[in-house]
Amino acid sequence: MNIIITGASRGLGNAIAESFAAKGHNLFLCSQNELLLYKAMEVLTTKYPGITIKARPFNLADEAQAKAFGRWAMAETQRPGHQNNNIDILVNNAGQFLPGSIYNEKEGTLEKMIEVNLYSAYHLTRVILPQMMKQKSGHIFNICSIASLKAYHNGGSYSISKFALAGFSKNLREEMKEHGIKVTAVYPGAAYTDSWAATGMDQNRFMEAKDIADIIFASSQLSMQACVEDIVLRPQLGDI
Ligand SMILES: NC(=O)c1ccc[n+]([C@@H]2O[C@H](COP(=O)([O-])OP(=O)(O)OC[C@H]3O[C@@H](n4cnc5c(N)ncnc54)[C@H](OP(=O)(O)O)[C@@H]3O)[C@@H](O)[C@H]2O)c1
Repeated sequence: MNIIITGASRGLGNAIAESFAAKGHNLFLCSQNELLLYKAMEVLTTKYPGITIKARPFNLADEAQAKAFGRWAMAETQRPGHQNNNIDILVNNAGQFLPGSIYNEKEGTLEKMIEVNLYSAYHLTRVILPQMMKQKSGHIFNICSIASLKAYHNGGSYSISKFALAGFSKNLREEMKEHGIKVTAVYPGAAYTDSWAATGMDQNRFMEAKDIADIIFASSQLSMQACVEDIVLRPQLGDI
């Protein structure tokens, strides 16, 4: 299968990339920081030499760049000689957390959070959808958050943007039913990644990035007749 994953240089996106690579699937990856992205690609290529792994840095918060990444990934999968020219899975994972409260967060925080966490997925998905609709198959995972389901301290505009991403995912699910395309909203609680490392909190209190990757991979393996609509995961001890 051909899998497109955004925000794959580290954290959840990197773990998701590894879970598909380990099962022999081809990867088309994106993040912003060129060095980190190519390093991640190199590590995966060394570990899984039998698959195709391509990567290109783009700032997905920028509409033109989100669309350009989609067109690049499509062109890469359509290259003559590829056994499979379909786009089988798109994982909209790239995102950013800026802590704050609506009443006092910095001016422009809402716009930034909406651009990174919502528009990135919206514009990229719209580039990929015509190909999936032509195939009459495909699976789109949108990495939302527990912050898409409930308000929490310091959630501010991040939480607003993740509620919006969940709305995007639910609407897309309805629209794509008849086209044979599955849509899954993933709502993780706290999983230990760079976003949390700086807090100095005990790593054992968190889920592992691999936990989220494993459930996404498992959800991609069901029959054509079944769609996992929502995945809610929390640390064993609950929200942090
Ligand atoms: N970890 C958690 O506890 C948790 C919980 C709930 C939901 N989530 C969601 O899960 C997703 C991944 O979180 P994470 O903890 O793995 O984050 P992370 O460790 O900070 O990694 C974020 C990834 O997204 C990329 N990215 C961010 N902004 C981008 C942009 N404008 N254009 C392209 N790539 C961009 C980053 O690349 P660069 O460094 O190059 O920008 C990086 O690869 C996010 O959507 C997050 O909101 C995480």
